[in-house]
Amino acid sequence: MINITFYDTHNANSGERVAGTTVQVETGQSLMTAAVNAGIDAIAADCGGTLTCATCHVIVRPAWADKLPPITEEESNMLDFAASPRQGNSRLSCQIELTPELNDMEVDLPLSQY
Ligand code: FES
Repeated sequence: MINITFYDTHNANSGERVAGTTVQVETGQSLMTAAVNAGIDAIAADCGGTLTCATCHVIVRPAWADKLPPITEEESNMLDFAASPRQGNSRLSCQIELTPELNDMEVDLPLSQY
């Protein structure tokens, strides 16, 4: 089991400090699947992980972004369709396989997936 913390980034615009939601999840599954099963509503994941929807968009905090495999051309192309503006560390969570090295990873959630 590893810990992943999700932050509702859009709440941070008020200037208030945002408390993250930390979930304990199994490795060997995608970040998207872990988030959906943990009830992270901001991950819509309409296509179920087939890389055809971009509604599983997350922004990986810098300390963790370098630990991820490089983004593929297919993932990058689909990210261009994300509803909220793509950022430097944007990824599609269905393409991130959780490994022990990602324990304590922190990700921000976009304002909207639609
Ligand atoms: S769940 Fe559809 S692209 Fe990730």
